[in-house]
Amino acid sequence: MKVAIVGFGFSAEKSHLPAYKNRSDIHLTAVVDPVTVRRAAALRQYPNIRVYEKFGDLLEEYSDEIDIVDICVPNTFHMESVKQALGADKHVLCEKPLVLNKGEYDELVNIANERKRVLYPCHNYKFAPSIVHAAYLISLGEIGQPLFASFNIFTANFQREKPQLQSDFQKVQELSSSGIIIDHGLDAISVAQTLFGGSPQRISAHIRNLNQQDSELEDLAVFCLDWEEQLININLSSLGSIPKAYYRIQGTKGEISIENNDIFLSVKNKPVQHISVPTHSEVPTHVSWFNGLIDDLLDCIKTEKIKPFPLIEAGLVLDIIEKANYSNQNGGSWIGIEFTT
Ligand SMILES: NC(=O)c1ccc[n+]([C@@H]2O[C@H](COP(=O)([O-])OP(=O)(O)OC[C@H]3O[C@@H](n4cnc5c(N)ncnc54)[C@H](O)[C@@H]3O)[C@@H](O)[C@H]2O)c1
Repeated sequence: MKVAIVGFGFSAEKSHLPAYKNRSDIHLTAVVDPVTVRRAAALRQYPNIRVYEKFGDLLEEYSDEIDIVDICVPNTFHMESVKQALGADKHVLCEKPLVLNKGEYDELVNIANERKRVLYPCHNYKFAPSIVHAAYLISLGEIGQPLFASFNIFTANFQREKPQLQSDFQKVQELSSSGIIIDHGLDAISVAQTLFGGSPQRISAHIRNLNQQDSELEDLAVFCLDWEEQLININLSSLGSIPKAYYRIQGTKGEISIENNDIFLSVKNKPVQHISVPTHSEVPTHVSWFNGLIDDLLDCIKTEKIKPFPLIEAGLVLDIIEKANYSNQNGGSWIGIEFTT
């Protein structure tokens, strides 16, 4: 499959590219970026590809050499880039969040459906090895019926060079449209879906911007989700400086604790079992999670699965976030969630 990357910044260079380099079934043919130094960075690694300043020029001049467009531009440009790619009959892998509201989501799903092309949001946390393994343990019934889960996601601002057009866009409202909820709430909901399947029936949420000097976006969100037969508590904070994510799932027979590379499985009347699953959540590029995602994308293209699960999940996430904001505006009251696939 021939791939063109649109937006050659941090995510494209440090996460997607290293994964592509190790695969024989993906060939990078072109890169689009309006910034000269970013196009030069792409050419340094792939001297034989074509580089373009504008996506439209690539589609006009080199369309035959592209099967998949991999969109890695800042969030607010996802919509127009995905529309352009689908309009040119390309399959699309798009960095998360796919789009920022349900109206845009519905429009893209309709276009993908009409064009019969796979639209695949990059929900990479589903492919984190420790999450995949924990889902497997739950499916085996190791902890019995899950009853309660607590996810704690603490992020920090990684310092990195940003010679791009927009620097530090995640902190800027116009370019990102949300803070930690879009940035990590999406991942937490995707992890919950991977572990438990189904969808939540209702949400109660509290959202705050406590450290207003650092960001004009929300830096704390506390969600309680009534999810099928269990309650899930999700705490998201970007107030600190030590990034860490840990997950605990308690069931009728035992519990699972996931912390980066370590899973602890505790079953009643048995010693706690430590399972090491190299996951390396501390590395922000998450390169090792990307291969499973690419396998799934290629499988969806091969089997003509036009609505892959991460696309359905992107709709669920947008709905949950919308209801979370509404709940917060109403003092944290419970708000129903209706999920349609
Ligand atoms: N899946 C993950 O774990 C993960 C991690 C980091 C970032 N992301 C997502 O990846 C996307 C990009 O984030 P990033 O950190 O790489 O940002 P970045 O700023 O490092 O890179 C964005 C690049 O897009 C280019 N660009 C801007 N507008 C463009 C346009 N109209 N056409 C083509 N190129 C354009 C910029 O010049 C820049 O090189 C975001 O949606 C972000 O949420 C996902």
